[in-house]
Amino acid sequence: MPKIKIDGGHKLSGVINISGAKNSAVALIPASILCDEEVNLNNVPNISDVDALESILIHLNAEVRRTGESISVNCKNVINNKITEDMSVKLRASYYFMGALLSKFKKVDMYFPGGCSIGSRPINLHLDGFKLMGANIMEDGNHFIMEAPILHGANIDLNFPSVGATINLMLAASKADGETIINNAAKEPEIVNVADFLNKMGAHIIGAGTNRIIINGVKYLHSADHEVISDRIEAGTYLIIGALLGKNLVINNLNPEYITPLINKLKLSGIALEVSENSILVNTVSKKKCVNIRTEAYPGFATDLQQPMATYLTQCDGISTINETIYENRFQNLPELGKMGAEYEIKNNNRRAIIYGKRKLHGNEVIATDLRGGASVLIAALIASGTTYIDQVHHILRGYEGIIDKLRSVGAKIEIIE
Ligand code: EPZ
Repeated sequence: MPKIKIDGGHKLSGVINISGAKNSAVALIPASILCDEEVNLNNVPNISDVDALESILIHLNAEVRRTGESISVNCKNVINNKITEDMSVKLRASYYFMGALLSKFKKVDMYFPGGCSIGSRPINLHLDGFKLMGANIMEDGNHFIMEAPILHGANIDLNFPSVGATINLMLAASKADGETIINNAAKEPEIVNVADFLNKMGAHIIGAGTNRIIINGVKYLHSADHEVISDRIEAGTYLIIGALLGKNLVINNLNPEYITPLINKLKLSGIALEVSENSILVNTVSKKKCVNIRTEAYPGFATDLQQPMATYLTQCDGISTINETIYENRFQNLPELGKMGAEYEIKNNNRRAIIYGKRKLHGNEVIATDLRGGASVLIAALIASGTTYIDQVHHILRGYEGIIDKLRSVGAKIEIIE
């Protein structure tokens, strides 16, 4: 199995360009099924999650062409084949084929999605919304067959602003009969990116980015070109790296508004940041003040940045805390940091972590427990003394395009070894 080898302690200088957003691309690609003509998506990150979705589209007889960071999809001859279990479990975002295929064919046959093991991650909010829109759902273990003789609009209340449920129900409602209202909708920028794409194809969606989205179904969606927004979680991950090792490090091609909570926490901690319209210049400082993190749905502090931030907190003076309000099992990276010298406590039924600061980290053999947990240990390896070997690196590579080359280009001593 390949491993990432890192020799830590090197300052990082230069420019890191942020790629297209994984969590937008993985929704835009299944959304292309709703169109009966060719669509073109640009700024698509070259990551294994996109590969997995491409293979599902091909399995459904779609025509797919990928050239660099563009992908063209033509679904005029798509067949509503069963999406097999091994395809469904490859990633969490396979669940977007539920809303897309229900909308197009009024039927979908697939399995429970995959994704990082950071909690139970049910899809009840998705399914309840589909049922309100007229879908009959047969569940057999992790196998789902959904059919909607008539898929109609509905007034849906989400008891949590779920990103996936919001997007999935937007997809289903785009070609349903009548009006759908999603109350307590999630407000993440990726949701706006998907709604803009659907509207470019001729959908009628208003309110994306707010907690109330109104969709009026249409019969036909025509071709469109669209751009994936920049990845705010990738940007935040590199900003945290810059806060620890940056010497005039520029994080480029980002939207600072997407990561305001992180920027503010790093400023409160004493980091020197120069924020421009689409880039941030970051310099580390020797004295980092401890800060407290509480994850919230957007626009709060992103749960996906909590694990990379935990590594930063090990370097702050004093004691910092993390309250993880979104997932019930998102501290699996801490034991791996512990192998490198971090000291922490986990309390409140795995929802609160106490991080003891100013701990010198040393190299070790560790694993990537999940995507953002992998980022957390990778950051630790970059600051640790000595050499670190990271196993299970597929978790990292599925969500961070070109991370080895990007870090090496600014001075990191990092490589993949077989
Ligand atoms: C998306 O996951 C992202 N993944 C996650 O990023 C991100 O952490 C999450 O949104 C929150 O921002 C993708 O976009 C592919 P949710 P999703 O539905 O849609 C509970 C990463 O690292 N819930 O907002 O699964 C759920 O268990 C990944 O890139 C239900 O209870 O997130 C969780 O506790 C990790 N029932 C909370 O809501 C449901 O039907 C947030 O889930 C759906 C969700």
